Amino acid sequence: MAIKVAAIIGSNRKESYNLKLVKYMKDRYAEQLDIEIVSINDVEMFSADTEENPPKGAMDFKIKVRNADAVLFAVPEYNFSIPGALKNAIDWMSRSGHDMKDKPTFIVGSSMGVLGSVRAQMHLREIISNPTLQPKLLPNNEVYIGAIHTKMNEQNELTDEGTIGFLDSVVNNFVEFYNKIK
Ligand code: FNR
Repeated sequence: MAIKVAAIIGSNRKESYNLKLVKYMKDRYAEQLDIEIVSINDVEMFSADTEENPPKGAMDFKIKVRNADAVLFAVPEYNFSIPGALKNAIDWMSRSGHDMKDKPTFIVGSSMGVLGSVRAQMHLREIISNPTLQPKLLPNNEVYIGAIHTKMNEQNELTDEGTIGFLDSVVNNFVEFYNKIK
């Protein structure tokens, strides 16, 4: 049976390449992964005043993550780090319920620049290693897709064979990792 994955899109942009990448992964890996796209767009600004009783957008987001078997982050880079909206959503997950704790997790990321969100992903790995989050993160398997706008066609499918082959191997590695630790 396919693994139920909450895919957290780190961009709130309608035409986000990271969103398109996850939509592509949802189709391509449907036999292995049952991907639900989880948007951060309606997650309210975090406040410690309401952390025990989160507002609707934050609560809906938290529950989607909590109910999944696994988590996938698709992350762009903003100013050498993750976007503030994604950090906000992660702050919500770290409180009341600790939604990510022990959740098998892997990370992909893309950008139009050549580095493919490497600095953002390095920060993300550090942020989620906090004891209040602490998912079971797939080691290695770092997916940095640079110049993403040159690697997709008009149907938003990846066209770069090297990237596709690498993504296939990362998904296989994740499924193997998941089955080993579950
Ligand atoms: C960016 N972008 C960017 N790219 C990069 O490689 N390093 C960076 O530090 C930044 N910083 C940055 C800041 C802000 C505020 C914006 C809006 C953009 C470019 C960005 O990564 C690129 O547009 C991605 O395609 C955005 O991801 P989505 O929305 O396409 O998923």
